[in-house]
Amino acid sequence: MLPWNFIAGALKVFVLLRTVAGGSVDKQNQTSEANSCNGTKIVVQDRPVESFPLFDRPTSTIMRYRSQRAVNLGSWFVHEQWMTPSLFINAAGAKLSELDIASGGDSPNCARQMLEDHWKTFITAKDFSDLASKGINTVRLPIGYWSLGPEFCQGTPFSPFADVYHNSWSFIVQAIKMAADFEIGVLVDLHGAVGSQNGQPHSGISNKHAGLFDSETNMDKTIDVLTFLTEKLCNVTNVIGIQVLNEPQDDPGLIDFYIRAISEMRRVPGAESFPIYIHDAFNLEKFSDFVSQRSDFIVQDHHSYFVFTSQDEKKSASQHTEDIRTSILRSLFSASKNERGNLIVGEWSCALTPESLSMESDQVAAREKFCKAQLDVYSSATAGWSFWSYKKEDCDNGWCFTAALGTALPPDFFSYRQSCDSLGSNGGLINLRSFDAFAPNMTQDLDMKRSTTPFHHRLATIHYYRLRRLDTDSNMTAEEQSETKGYEDGFLTAKQFCEHDGSRLGFIGQFIDDSIKALGPTVVQSGTEPDYIAGFTRGLSDGEGSS
Ligand SMILES: *[C@@H]1O[C@H](CO)[C@@H](O)[C@H](O)[C@H]1NC(C)=O
Ligand SMILES: *[C@@H]1O[C@H](CO)[C@@H](O)[C@H](O)[C@H]1NC(C)=O
Ligand SMILES: *[C@@H]1O[C@H](CO)[C@@H](O)[C@H](O)[C@H]1NC(C)=O
Ligand SMILES: *[C@@H]1O[C@H](CO)[C@@H](O)[C@H](O)[C@H]1NC(C)=O
Ligand SMILES: *[C@@H]1O[C@H](CO)[C@@H](O)[C@H](O)[C@H]1NC(C)=O
Repeated sequence: MLPWNFIAGALKVFVLLRTVAGGSVDKQNQTSEANSCNGTKIVVQDRPVESFPLFDRPTSTIMRYRSQRAVNLGSWFVHEQWMTPSLFINAAGAKLSELDIASGGDSPNCARQMLEDHWKTFITAKDFSDLASKGINTVRLPIGYWSLGPEFCQGTPFSPFADVYHNSWSFIVQAIKMAADFEIGVLVDLHGAVGSQNGQPHSGISNKHAGLFDSETNMDKTIDVLTFLTEKLCNVTNVIGIQVLNEPQDDPGLIDFYIRAISEMRRVPGAESFPIYIHDAFNLEKFSDFVSQRSDFIVQDHHSYFVFTSQDEKKSASQHTEDIRTSILRSLFSASKNERGNLIVGEWSCALTPESLSMESDQVAAREKFCKAQLDVYSSATAGWSFWSYKKEDCDNGWCFTAALGTALPPDFFSYRQSCDSLGSNGGLINLRSFDAFAPNMTQDLDMKRSTTPFHHRLATIHYYRLRRLDTDSNMTAEEQSETKGYEDGFLTAKQFCEHDGSRLGFIGQFIDDSIKALGPTVVQSGTEPDYIAGFTRGLSDGEGSS
């Protein structure tokens, strides 16, 4: 964030303490490794890797399955020139990518010092606190393979500059812990794969070459990176998932790579049902089909931008807004439905081209409508959205969340919490119509209960109802049992999520499938799954007060 010259002038003397793998600190000072950065002596210091709190499964379930209102923390650990130009002043080569920063400056220690300063200051606990106070419950955290440390730089273009990343894993761990302090979930996103998955500067390189898929070695190394991440993070409460690749080319080998990566990640003990995200290479249908053919917790990440093609330029902002509310809504809905709801829009922004804006008489209002349409559509058609990006140098309200908040975007994202607290327009009264169908004589009794039962007794009402049903000497059929159980589970789930910071179940289909699996056939008899699903869906809707 700070200009290089300022940082160089303010260099302090650092102490280098070597770390052995695993994070324990060897107290021996290795001043011989110290060198100078533009004449100022620097001695850099090892940072221990902190440990995470004990895994809290119930909280993690809520964070992993809830509907996401997220921002991307772009240019914190993977740098893009247009977002943080000050870090590129002394970069090498094309001055576009992470590698140009690492290889630039006077020495690796200069780059290291500058990056460590950036990791420390660009985003802090205050930012997570601000995000939480606006109703943001998740962040997507782009990292590169280099972020895992020097060992992972070996045999890559980062190898000569490996020591720049000596402490970076420690900063990543700290970032996740800071988010945890504010109950914010973190999707760890592999933005830069070994060899590059897309040839773009935001994958870490400037030579435009996408060299991941044509090299077994690069694919193996990338799988090692993903396995390491899974081992370190699958039992961390607020890590909501790992994204295998960001915006890969739609290479013929992509699907095979995904299958292999997922199966290696799933092999890690405790990662059997850990959420794994895949980017769809901008091919919504193809990867929706891929997810639909699996039953495990795989999520499709689709990115939605309106500024990158000449077609985009030719349309007015209003035309884009119209497209979002019609054709884009339809295609997202249909993809999501096809894959049991396992879809997010992991990048979008309020950015429009000057051409699109110039066709509008009121550009401010046009941008606001464009953003609002995206929020509405992504919120209703998918399980979550993530704005690109939280901040950048020279913030503008197209690309920068902090500037868009309260201008192009609403001032906060708490609308659901309000409706959850008040439990909707029926005053929160539980709707048991679904059960009336198979017990018509209960209706009168229940109508009375509906109007008199205080909220905390409503679940008891359902139990009461079940018992009465048994008392009538006409036992519930297996279908009825599954539906009743589903209703209770759905209702309770809504309450549990809501009590956690106004959360709402997002990955509904996956949650129901995983619940049925967990309950087993003694609770949900084989063949009665559709009844459980129907009951759950109604219970959830009643519990959320939105029926
Ligand atoms: C390491 O360096 C620090 C700071 O220069 C110094 O205080 C300390 O005594 C040194 N320790 C050893 C073991 O040399
Ligand atoms: C180092 O100093 C030289 C000359 O004084 C300057 O051109 C260069 O930008 C400086 N490099 C850094 C990393 O500040
Ligand atoms: C995660 O936790 C589970 C349950 O405690 C344990 O069996 C598993 O080994 C852990 N996995 C890792 C990678 O630490
Ligand atoms: C339901 O009520 C009707 C009319 O009051 C009665 O004829 C019928 O037998 C009752 N059914 C059961 C299952 O109790
Ligand atoms: C209801 O189920 C119980 C326990 O399985 C059984 O004893 C009873 O006969 C059943 N009643 C009817 C009406 O089927």
